Amino acid sequence: MSQDPFAEFKNRQREMWSTFAPTAMFTTPVAGHLVGFAQIAEGETVLDVGTGTGVVAVTAARRGARVTGLDLTPELIEAARENAGISGHGDIAWTEGDAENLPYADGSFDVVLSQFGHMFAPRPEVAIAEMRRVLKPGGRIAFATWPPEHFVGRMFAFIGRNSPPPPAGASPPPQWGNPAIVTERLGPHFDAPFFGRGTMHFPALSIGHFRLFLERSVGPMRKLVEGLADDPQKLAALRAEFDALAEPYYVDNVVHQSYLLTRARAR
Ligand SMILES: C[S@@+](CC[C@H](N)C(=O)[O-])C[C@H]1O[C@@H](n2cnc3c(N)ncnc32)[C@H](O)[C@@H]1O
Repeated sequence: MSQDPFAEFKNRQREMWSTFAPTAMFTTPVAGHLVGFAQIAEGETVLDVGTGTGVVAVTAARRGARVTGLDLTPELIEAARENAGISGHGDIAWTEGDAENLPYADGSFDVVLSQFGHMFAPRPEVAIAEMRRVLKPGGRIAFATWPPEHFVGRMFAFIGRNSPPPPAGASPPPQWGNPAIVTERLGPHFDAPFFGRGTMHFPALSIGHFRLFLERSVGPMRKLVEGLADDPQKLAALRAEFDALAEPYYVDNVVHQSYLLTRARAR
């Protein structure tokens, strides 16, 4: 067994995210928003960090960019490769790898993107230094993240309260959705960031349907439920807490999930 707590953490993350593919149906429109917000132009070299099933990578390729997608989870890279083929962009390069240790030379890309991806790397300062390192001088970064005060940020806080703690020194992912913290983290490497906002829409017939989907597909929720398989009472209490958390965001059969967009130019 590895002695490095962050390596162990990433092994758990890799397994956790392996069932994520069905969720990409809902992150696909956000990818359109992010790629437009990032002003991706024909011929630019683009890296998508935490690409998952490749929704951002394929969208950028459709604008004529030369794209590389990287993700920790091999099952998702396989789905991304299939999506690239279906869309006619079989030339996208795919890498299984870690946002905290990007396997590319310095100055390789015009743009580095990440949609709900690099926010899950445990050490923000390591991930952002890597994303800056692989950018060309004057290149840009753009990413979508979940703010702590909206539904997904609150859901991750709920999951965190009820799960084994991450290694000491790991940051909660939704901190990447706080503009003040983002500005501070980008400070050493980038010009002042420009922010945007959007809402991801998740149609569901009831909150029970929504929760069941997350329990099957979204790793951190799946793990939480699996961990309580022997404690039906506690599981029922947690499900009730989740439903109460989701209720204010469930309007007209849609769960509204607000996100933050950030764009900045490397210094
Ligand atoms: C919420 S999913 C988002 C996937 C995709 N970008 C989308 O919007 O559909 C988070 C992704 O980040 C990946 N991930 C988590 N930690 C990572 C790390 N340290 N390095 C690279 N990818 C990571 C997961 O494997 C997963 O694909």
